[in-house]
Amino acid sequence: MPNYPITQSPNHRITESPNHRITESPNHLIAIIGGTGKEGNAIAARFAKAGVRVLIGSRDAAKAQNAANELNARVGASNVEGYANRDATARAEIVLLAVPYAGMTPILEDIRDAAQGKIVINVASSLDPERKSRAKPPAAGSVTAEVQQFFGDAVKVVCAFQNIAPEKLESVEEKIDTDVIVCGNDKDARATVIDLIRRIGIDAFDGGALANAVAVEALTAILIAVNIKYKVRGAGIRITGVPRESA
Ligand SMILES: NC(=O)c1ccc[n+]([C@@H]2O[C@H](COP(=O)([O-])OP(=O)(O)OC[C@H]3O[C@@H](n4cnc5c(N)ncnc54)[C@H](OP(=O)(O)O)[C@@H]3O)[C@@H](O)[C@H]2O)c1
Repeated sequence: MPNYPITQSPNHRITESPNHRITESPNHLIAIIGGTGKEGNAIAARFAKAGVRVLIGSRDAAKAQNAANELNARVGASNVEGYANRDATARAEIVLLAVPYAGMTPILEDIRDAAQGKIVINVASSLDPERKSRAKPPAAGSVTAEVQQFFGDAVKVVCAFQNIAPEKLESVEEKIDTDVIVCGNDKDARATVIDLIRRIGIDAFDGGALANAVAVEALTAILIAVNIKYKVRGAGIRITGVPRESA
């Protein structure tokens, strides 16, 4: 795919919504692997509502198609389709991995060839399965780094969405009061993903290199600990000291 930030692509126009500035690109296609699940489906709903073309991916093509039909009906869209994970990856420009870390390896193997040359967004964190309020980074440093190692340099892997619960994403009309931090080794890929996320009513920030993804993923454990301690759902984070377009 071309390496430009979304706002500079030839086919974009900018629109204003009451709460945030969004850009529209009818040509962008995002595959959401595990889009049948809680987090992936909630992210898919946001993209669908914003007019981004979404391909729901599943290990089972029929399950993906059902989830796509349900999502179109729910958000009043027609831009969501469902495919088996590998087909969704092959058709998309950007691939978002929304599957549990514990079950990720066979899925990565399945989509490895189809993902070459694309941007892959990892939303998974590595948490201690015995106690999810504790971070447990893998040997690679982070799940995102492990995914990057798996695919090799032709795939541009970034982390995003680790710190937003599906409950927050599901209200597709609402501006979300938490930020997304995007880390990865390719700065153009980070910029593309940040633009894409801003289109769905979420402020996203460039968190620098892939080595920093460990902090984003560990923040998930901290937010789970905060949710437990303060008996809330969906604690989030904010970057301060940076002017915001949507302020
Ligand atoms: N839930 C949250 O609060 C939250 C917040 C931020 C980030 N995340 C991250 O988002 C990812 C998905 O979380 P989720 O809560 O949406 O998970 P989920 O609903 O349990 O699973 C998502 C999808 O992944 C596939 N899947 C489930 N278990 C699998 C396994 N053992 N092996 C292979 N595929 C499996 C299923 O899709 P098919 O059966 O259709 O293939 C499922 O619909 C995780 O990596 C999580 O860390 C979650």
